[in-house]
Amino acid sequence: MRILATGGAGYVGSAVCRQLLKRGYEVFAYDNLGKGFRQALPDGCLIEGDLDDYSLLSKVLRERRIDVVMHFAASIAVGESVEQPRLYYRNNIANSLNLLEAMLDADVKRILFSSTAAVYAPIAEGSLSENDAIAPASPYAVTKHTIEQMIRDFSHAYGLNYRILRYFNACGGSNGGQYGEAHDPETHLIPLVLQVPLGQREFIGVFGDDYNTPDGTCVRDYIHVDDLADAHIRAVESFDTNETSKAKAGSIYNIGTGTGNSVLEVIRATEEVVGGKIPIKMLNRRAGDTDRLVAGAERLRKELGWKPKYDNLRDVIATAWQWHKSHPNGY
Ligand code: UFG
Repeated sequence: MRILATGGAGYVGSAVCRQLLKRGYEVFAYDNLGKGFRQALPDGCLIEGDLDDYSLLSKVLRERRIDVVMHFAASIAVGESVEQPRLYYRNNIANSLNLLEAMLDADVKRILFSSTAAVYAPIAEGSLSENDAIAPASPYAVTKHTIEQMIRDFSHAYGLNYRILRYFNACGGSNGGQYGEAHDPETHLIPLVLQVPLGQREFIGVFGDDYNTPDGTCVRDYIHVDDLADAHIRAVESFDTNETSKAKAGSIYNIGTGTGNSVLEVIRATEEVVGGKIPIKMLNRRAGDTDRLVAGAERLRKELGWKPKYDNLRDVIATAWQWHKSHPNGY
């Protein structure tokens, strides 16, 4: 199978590309390096390009005889999307439409799309299944849900075969901490908490302690990036075995551990990993956040035989610590 990964030099995209290459797939990472890093990928698989460059996209899809597109490229910060929605509608929706049209023109009929748990209406307890109510709370989540809908409509009208993967909170250092998160600016909780023991910040700000959760801080499902990558491998392989696999032509999967942790629990677990106190400052809520997002990933387990290797938050944070300690300024 020949795979094109948009955003393949990013945190999740590169983790998936590296696993695919290890397993012998032909992989091309299509990335403009606006947020991604050449160093996150082995030599030779990067194609530098913009998603709004229709002619380059078409050329690459045809000339590399691509069978499957994995669509990772997107703007991903919930808070930023509230401040700058136009960026999100342009980068996420307009560019995805460009990609889908280029795929149709080049007769590429399989797509794996990186969606998000943020599309769901939050629930007070328990975990979310793929059939639960949708209520995107931020422009970011709206764009992701709109792209899901575009893909479903294209599937219905043009026979596009798809896997939509709804990620919960991707985190951790990949390959034991050899690779990791390097966002600029960083907005994600675990890398920001780790900046305290690195001496790069004095405290971690906690965005709200008045949520409807046991300790009042938001609960999320933190999934290790290599487990997330493994789910992609299984999803892409299910395209080939459609007749025998339980996956349908179009399937949606949650990817998460099924365990929720609050912001305060993440901070405490990090203190254990780094062996020191992390000062906290309570701040106002961040726009676009929701109380609780925890995955019900039974479908992924049952249909694709997926099982996370990391089921303990401390072990996940230890791999992130390994990465940030050895790369305090990113790549
Ligand atoms: N948080 C803080 N302080 C910080 C940073 C984050 O308290 O300095 C809190 C947030 O308010 C949130 C939690 O930590 O409650 C996690 O925040 P992240 O920014 O790390 O992650 P999000 O849950 O906002 O979003 C991430 C991805 C999205 C994805 C979502 C799915 O960035 O792309 O997970 O759950 F959609």
